[in-house]
Amino acid sequence: MGFRIVVLNIWFDVLLFLLGYGEASTHWVVTEDGKIQSQMDSVFSLKRPYDLMALMQQEQRAVLVEDLKQQLMAQKEDIDLREDKETNLEDKIYSTDVDCIIAGKPLTEFDLYFSTVILFDSKDLSVNDCMKEMSMKEKNKKPNCTEIIELDFSMNAFEHLTGVRNRHNLSMSAEEGLLQTVSSGVDIEEFGNAVNEAMKKNKTSWMLFNLATYYWREKGDANNAIECLRRALHFSPREHKDIALISLGNVLHRAHFSEEAAVVVRAAIDVDLDNAISHYTLGIIYAVLADYNKSVESFENALKVQPDFKNVEQHLHAVLCHSKVEKALETQHSSLQRTLSELRDYRKQHELWLKQQEQLLSEQAPPEVKLVQRLEYEEQKIRESLDGRGQDCIQFEQSGHTVLSCNMRREAYHQGTQAQVDLNLNLQLIQAVESHAGQLGQKVADQCHRS
Ligand SMILES: *[C@@H]1O[C@H](CO)[C@@H](O)[C@H](O)[C@H]1NC(C)=O
Ligand SMILES: *[C@@H]1O[C@H](CO)[C@@H](O)[C@H](O)[C@H]1NC(C)=O
Ligand SMILES: *[C@@H]1O[C@H](CO)[C@@H](O)[C@H](O)[C@H]1NC(C)=O
Ligand SMILES: *[C@@H]1O[C@H](CO)[C@@H](O)[C@H](O)[C@H]1NC(C)=O
Repeated sequence: MGFRIVVLNIWFDVLLFLLGYGEASTHWVVTEDGKIQSQMDSVFSLKRPYDLMALMQQEQRAVLVEDLKQQLMAQKEDIDLREDKETNLEDKIYSTDVDCIIAGKPLTEFDLYFSTVILFDSKDLSVNDCMKEMSMKEKNKKPNCTEIIELDFSMNAFEHLTGVRNRHNLSMSAEEGLLQTVSSGVDIEEFGNAVNEAMKKNKTSWMLFNLATYYWREKGDANNAIECLRRALHFSPREHKDIALISLGNVLHRAHFSEEAAVVVRAAIDVDLDNAISHYTLGIIYAVLADYNKSVESFENALKVQPDFKNVEQHLHAVLCHSKVEKALETQHSSLQRTLSELRDYRKQHELWLKQQEQLLSEQAPPEVKLVQRLEYEEQKIRESLDGRGQDCIQFEQSGHTVLSCNMRREAYHQGTQAQVDLNLNLQLIQAVESHAGQLGQKVADQCHRS
């Protein structure tokens, strides 16, 4: 029996050497009273120690298991090094990026639906000219543009836009306070009535139609606002069409037809390239449309026209900041997706590894058999050593005892419990990454498609 074990171990040495494991060795010690202090749990102590084929298969299996383990460890390291675990990426950018700091708050906290208006005053036009005959005492009539003059179709009224075509069922939020900007101190109903009276007297006044629009914008009535605007556009001289166009842009934007609002506001800029309000309005609309480059460009144009335009600067930095945050989140999200698929792949490999390892262990001899085998083997080694034939054993004195110390091949394949714990940690990561990637995907989608 002892002889057979030795033969097997020689075979083992040869195989290990061929496979590059030959140099590994471990130190084990046998004390005078025969106590063995070494790991003796080898996967090569087979159930059928006489079966050479089984031994070779076991060797192949052991190599495969070791390869898998190395792969898993490399993969784990790679995944652990990935820089996509930052959970506070957004906050980090907000607190460190220059644009974010200047903006003072995230773009999402800005009101991107505020009212803009081109005042008559800014064009050296006077509201008083058309308002002088208005009676400000009554408030029973609203400015009814459709009643003043019929207008089925106008080449100038952007009739092709969906928002304009479907004006009957458009809904917009009320632009409270707008009228105070246009004509401070005025009572809205008195104003409406007066505009209506004036319109009755001059049925083709583009200025009055614009004033009537302000009444309906303040009320949040998109249909009537657009009816008045169609007429304002129809009768406006070319150089003043931007007044009505900016109004139409505001109405469409508030009715969530922001793309069409951009079309209309671009037309306003064509009319007057030097109006900062138009560029500003367009910048805001592009920000809502998540077209950050064009938004920034529009804000820069507004600042070219009017360098001291304070709000524009803040919005400009907010958009620059936001586009950086969004880009970073998108990058992180796609990195997480990649990590996730690698983790899934990892899980599969890990299962394979466990299965192979299980088989590897199942081919082993039961512990009590191994113990017997090992003791016999060691006895044999000691006998050889005492005969002077054991090459790698030395005998020495320690604490008054004679100690025999031998080198033997390292058991390359121990039970994989330690590695298993390490590798298993990663599986929990899958759930964390999965949920993080999911949340982030939602966040990116929200950021991109908010309107
Ligand atoms: C405007 O006048 C038309 C025709 O008289 C009427 O049908 C419509 O209801 C009026 N609109 C408003 C807002 O008063
Ligand atoms: C508005 O009206 C148009 C046509 O009249 C219709 O196609 C559209 O679905 C309506 N929209 C809403 C929100 O009711
Ligand atoms: C009507 O108003 C327009 C501009 O508001 C003006 O140019 C025109 O002269 C006015 N017409 C009359 C008859 O008052
Ligand atoms: C925005 O501008 C940046 C830098 O100029 C460029 O890299 C990027 O492709 C642009 N994005 C779009 C959507 O045009």
